[in-house]
Amino acid sequence: IKRVTTHTIQELKNKGEKISALTAYDYSMARVVDAAGVELILVGDSASNVMAGHETTLPITLDQMIYHASSVVRAVKRALVVVDLPFGSYQGNSSEALRSAIRIMKESGAHAVKLEGGLEVKESIVRILSAGVPVMGHLGLTPQSIYKFGTYAVRAKEEAEAQKLMDDARMLEDIGCFSVVLEKIPAALTRQVSQSLQIPTIGIGAGPDADGQILVLHDLLGITKDFKPRFLRRYADLSTIMTEAIAHYVDDVKARDFPNENEAY
Ligand code: KIV
Ligand code: NA
Repeated sequence: IKRVTTHTIQELKNKGEKISALTAYDYSMARVVDAAGVELILVGDSASNVMAGHETTLPITLDQMIYHASSVVRAVKRALVVVDLPFGSYQGNSSEALRSAIRIMKESGAHAVKLEGGLEVKESIVRILSAGVPVMGHLGLTPQSIYKFGTYAVRAKEEAEAQKLMDDARMLEDIGCFSVVLEKIPAALTRQVSQSLQIPTIGIGAGPDADGQILVLHDLLGITKDFKPRFLRRYADLSTIMTEAIAHYVDDVKARDFPNENEAY
């Protein structure tokens, strides 16, 4: 199998083929996601919500991200594996940002890192890039700033914020990011940014004109039940399937049906 690289991702945009991306946080799921043909797997700090049950992405630590990332890397044969730098591991101190990125690359074997923000984190990104580590940007609704925003509503609906987003996107391309995630912004703004950048944009809740799409795996599979934003398409109802399977098992145990004689030694 030929591995997907940051160059492959760029070639997909160049030839007008959409890029498919999903999150994964553990070995078993990452095996399935990779084998199914997704080009980019993000070990997102959404693990804080999905894996650990926190209300926000802020509590997850660098060590915990490295644990998730190394599990995913062991599973993946083809996809590009990108890992989120968690809150507090890169903001406001480019030396610490570089140290965090190097720990992720060394200790997990991942292929790239992602971090949130524009101009505010420019020095951190430049420092990481200078070490030869590919960086993916993330603009729009950046969940690590949820207490600044105060709401998970659509970002950049106003002219000033849209202009800053376009400036930040251009800056991320200019300093050498290989791609940028656009989260929960108007579709028209995504179209404008995607057309004006050479590097691919990966959208979530950002409309059809991003160069690729990403979703949280557990949302797509219907494992998370109560999260239902307009942008989410559920491709399965695993929550129901899993609940029925487990309830069936409980019944069989109670009824002394499981294990049967073929299932015993
Ligand atoms: O952490 C995450 O899952 C993400 C994606 C939604 C882009 O950052
Ligand atoms: Na994230």
